[in-house]
Amino acid sequence: MEHKKMNAFPKSFLWGSASAAYQVEGAWDEDQKGVSVWDEFVNIPGKTFKGTTGEVAVDHYHRYKEDVALMAEQGLKAYRFSIAWTRIIPDGDGEINEAGLKFYENLIDELLAHHIEPVVTLYHWDLPKALQDKYKGWESRQIVADFTRYAEVLFDRFRGKVKFWVTLNEQNVFISHGYLQGSHPPDVQDPKRMYQANHYANLANAAAIKKFREMEMDGLIGPSFAYSPTYAIDSNPVNVLAADDHEELQANFWMDVYVYGRYPKVIWKWLEDQGIAPEVEADDFVLLREGKPDFMGVNYYQTSTVSANPLNGVGMGKPNTTGEKGSSEANGVPGIFKDEQNPFVERTNWDWEIDPTGMRIALRRITSRYDLPVLITENGLGEYDTLEEDGAIHDAYRIDYLKQHVEAIQEAITDGVEVLGYCTWSYTDLLSWLNGYQKRYGFVYVDRDELDEKELKRYKKDSYYWYQKVIESNGENL
Ligand code: NOJ
Repeated sequence: MEHKKMNAFPKSFLWGSASAAYQVEGAWDEDQKGVSVWDEFVNIPGKTFKGTTGEVAVDHYHRYKEDVALMAEQGLKAYRFSIAWTRIIPDGDGEINEAGLKFYENLIDELLAHHIEPVVTLYHWDLPKALQDKYKGWESRQIVADFTRYAEVLFDRFRGKVKFWVTLNEQNVFISHGYLQGSHPPDVQDPKRMYQANHYANLANAAAIKKFREMEMDGLIGPSFAYSPTYAIDSNPVNVLAADDHEELQANFWMDVYVYGRYPKVIWKWLEDQGIAPEVEADDFVLLREGKPDFMGVNYYQTSTVSANPLNGVGMGKPNTTGEKGSSEANGVPGIFKDEQNPFVERTNWDWEIDPTGMRIALRRITSRYDLPVLITENGLGEYDTLEEDGAIHDAYRIDYLKQHVEAIQEAITDGVEVLGYCTWSYTDLLSWLNGYQKRYGFVYVDRDELDEKELKRYKKDSYYWYQKVIESNGENL
């Protein structure tokens, strides 16, 4: 659809950027912080690139003022970050740790003092290890009550200061990586357990939103979903059917529950046929419907292209992840779809597709199916960057990537999508969960490599100045 003239971004548009506690904070055991499942997982030999950890990360815990000053100078309107559950309730369900609350209060106050809207993620994967040990974390219904209590503590403390709340970051990724692919904690490969843990995560998400309503919080709340819209490799009907299956399983299966409080029928039938449907209680669906979000948070990186699997076996393949692709035959389970390389899009050095039109498609599909505003909670380019001798980082490739995606958002707005804001991933460089510090996403370069923390000095990349102009002109000057 071509439009004669692009609509401008609304005045209230949140030009933001994002991070997550474990990936930036460091200070992994300071101020009575409890141990998270990630603190433990990274220390298992062979789990992360060169054994990198977030124990120091980019030391945001001690340098948050310096980081916020950089954001303010850039003109950032919103900063999305996550709170570590283990700083607030070190063992997950016991005493509240004032030092942890204080750290985030200081960060929030610092942001507000610089007119930067805090966008707070409640859960970005760092589950208290104590809950994993006690009742297997997400595999127990008890997590619903414990997560809701944790959320309530934060709502109560930051009421009036924080207006944008994100419940679970990429539930589809932490559940599928954690319980099917075994590449994230708790390192399980079992679809039955995966769908059960996922059901409890859905309930936890809904219960936290319900609590938010009961507490009459002033603000908006929603999950953040890793959405890679599906394309069929061609118009052969069997491939189109496979693409439908993929979209149902990888997208609708998750987002329908958030918005409509139900699982899509075709997938539910398939789960039952496979003997891997979760056990549910009748009241669960009442709670799920009560937990409807105010917006859909979307982490968009790329699209998925599939064909029918000639083996046409028993499974629908493995659940998707942000960009970590593989054949649906992974884990020895033949699937009815097969991942393909899209011949029409370019790829990054990390083999991720660059598909800005896919962003427009993602935003439009969400709008058509769910009729909710969208908050883009992540989008960005992970690349190797070079720090020049004069302290510059010439990341024209990142500017190009971001520019194309901002244009796609603008087109989606012109199509009729309500977009609340755009948070790039990431603000500073940070730890990539499995890829260490070599894969950089930030506007701000941090001088550290895999094992050497150096001085953790910050340097502004060319993209920092580019985004500054975009924000200043409210998206006119790309
Ligand atoms: C999604 C995750 O939320 C974030 O933690 C991760 O680093 C980025 N995508 C890049 O993979």
